[in-house]
Amino acid sequence: MTRKRDELLEHEADGIREFDNDMPRWWLYGFYFTIALSVAYFVNFHVLPSPVIGPANIQAEYEAEMAAAAEMKASRAAANASAPGGAVEIVLLTDAGSLDKGREIYESATHPCAACHKPDLGGLVGPNLTDAQWLHGCAIDDVVTSIKTGFPLQGMLPFGGGPPLNDEQVLQLASYILSRGGSAPADAKAPDPARDAPCP
Ligand code: HEC
Repeated sequence: MTRKRDELLEHEADGIREFDNDMPRWWLYGFYFTIALSVAYFVNFHVLPSPVIGPANIQAEYEAEMAAAAEMKASRAAANASAPGGAVEIVLLTDAGSLDKGREIYESATHPCAACHKPDLGGLVGPNLTDAQWLHGCAIDDVVTSIKTGFPLQGMLPFGGGPPLNDEQVLQLASYILSRGGSAPADAKAPDPARDAPCP
């Protein structure tokens, strides 16, 4: 390689000119090394049935992880079903004790529903939960689903951002919310005519 030193190129932009020097050798060797490494990496992980270096083949690794996840899901579901308050039937609760527990969760520091829906449920960042206009349905199972999944794109995380609640607690919370229907708090947030639908 003939090495050029500080030869100015013809062109110029706004008084700025540049040299046409060769790349420094250390830089070039680093570059060649990355090319060689990428070929070795590709062959190692994607071509050879079992890589020389590293964990099992990527496909096998993916399948093993999916199998492990399915197993974990099944064992969690089994644990949840046998835990107290797990696998409860979704029916509206109306007894004062359950509604009180729901209100406690609604107002708790760990599940800050009140921060977005206001302590009187009139709505602030989140919609009014006391009117007959709902975005995601007003049946007890709709409200349970809204609480469990949240609406992360609109700002509400699952369980309002707090730690997961068990099925019984979610049911108490949803029942408390529905028990406040028609309470008409002052300064409630107006429904969004483009998205809200009246509750049947
Ligand atoms: C960070 C703000 C925030 C927090 C905290 C929050 N929400 Fe929400 N919530 C929202 C927003 C925003 C929506 C509307 C989602 C949309 O636009 O689709 C919503 C929607 C809902 C809905 C559906 C309303 C409808 O009209 O269908 C329910 C039910 C609900 N929230 C209950 C709760 C409960 C219970 C908690 C506490 C565990 C909670 N939210 C905590 C912001 C919040």
